[in-house]
Amino acid sequence: MKNTELPAVEGGTPVRKNRLPFSPPYIDNREIESVVKVMESGWVTRGPVCEEFEKRLSEYTGSPYCLVLNSATAGLFLALKVVGVGEGDEVITTPYTFAATANSVIHCGARPVFADIERDSFCISPEEIKKKVGRKTKAIIPVHFGGRPAEIDEISKIADNYNLTVIEDAAHAIGAFYRGRKIGSGNNIAVFSFHAVKNLTTAEGGAIALKDESLFRLLKLYSLHGQSKDAFKKLQAGGWEYDIELPGYKFNMTDIQAAIGIEQLKKLDDNIKIRKRIANRYTDFFRSYSFIKVSSCEEYNECAWHLYPILIDFTDLKIDKKHLINAIWEEGISLNVHYKPVHMMSYYSKTFGYKPEDFPVSYRVYKEEVSLPIYPGMSDKDVDDVIIAFKKIFDYYYSR
Ligand SMILES: Cc1ncc(COP(=O)(O)O)c(C=O)c1O
Repeated sequence: MKNTELPAVEGGTPVRKNRLPFSPPYIDNREIESVVKVMESGWVTRGPVCEEFEKRLSEYTGSPYCLVLNSATAGLFLALKVVGVGEGDEVITTPYTFAATANSVIHCGARPVFADIERDSFCISPEEIKKKVGRKTKAIIPVHFGGRPAEIDEISKIADNYNLTVIEDAAHAIGAFYRGRKIGSGNNIAVFSFHAVKNLTTAEGGAIALKDESLFRLLKLYSLHGQSKDAFKKLQAGGWEYDIELPGYKFNMTDIQAAIGIEQLKKLDDNIKIRKRIANRYTDFFRSYSFIKVSSCEEYNECAWHLYPILIDFTDLKIDKKHLINAIWEEGISLNVHYKPVHMMSYYSKTFGYKPEDFPVSYRVYKEEVSLPIYPGMSDKDVDDVIIAFKKIFDYYYSR
């Protein structure tokens, strides 16, 4: 029986007085100056800076076409739409993700069909995908969880066999490598997020990377009302006339956001190295605890270390997950949980009748998972504090 009345270590002083945040953006004067420059330029919405950011993203990812947008959610939705996913179709995806992945399928009028994950990688299991392919399946959306690449070769093989499209939810994975290939450089459509907590942020934002020029043109058209010319192009041409070729959406990025993105992109690889160093320090520490499963990445891949999740077997701890998170909070450290699986969210369980145990690996991982702070702004002392706080809590609440 857990003593849930004891969230914090009694007595003594907390490890930190000033709380360590979970995932603040890593922004300095370079982003600030570039934003000011755009604001002074007389053009702040989509224009030349977005185009420059797209060019640099193409160079960085190795993908011939990149389209920047206001979010990855918009990117997932548009990608599904242009490959023809709609009413009556099914899309196989993971329940172990942020809701945006599955929501985008529903926005298209299609049904998300979940396939469980692999415990080691937190990513969708190719074997489970095979069990879910049916007559109505149109696409597969694997998620590169926390920057760990999903098994894309196997998933693409299944897709080829059944004539399905793969759209990679790479919201966490810019800068990651799958078997030596950068995420976004492959044959599938990949969608990145530049949300505030991501490895590369534009405050809010996202991008689609792909190889197919005609799909790129269609995506671009859909992303800005279906207009034949965007406002900047109209102005440049000195004209006012434009056509609406289809009823598009309003999903564009702004030049202010793109200016932030360009500066963030320049630092991305260095920042991933810092993230990796922090991950290694956590792994060295947690490895000595038999009840902890540390984060890992297949040796043939390179993780972008967006998240550092650990799995905790609570059997020998006197507190449960909720109280552990509270106890660490009382020590001045913020933790997070990635994720409460989507099939357990009330809309999904009510609409599709899912029970938590329907995806047993996801359910178990959810019960055991906590995510630790990992970001380039963390000092060595910050990392020490996280480790000290865990050691203090484990020493205090260990049963034997
Ligand atoms: C796995 C995953 N997919 C998609 C999204 C949606 O990203 P955005 O906030 O840019 O729409 C997120 C956002 O957190 C995410 O974590």
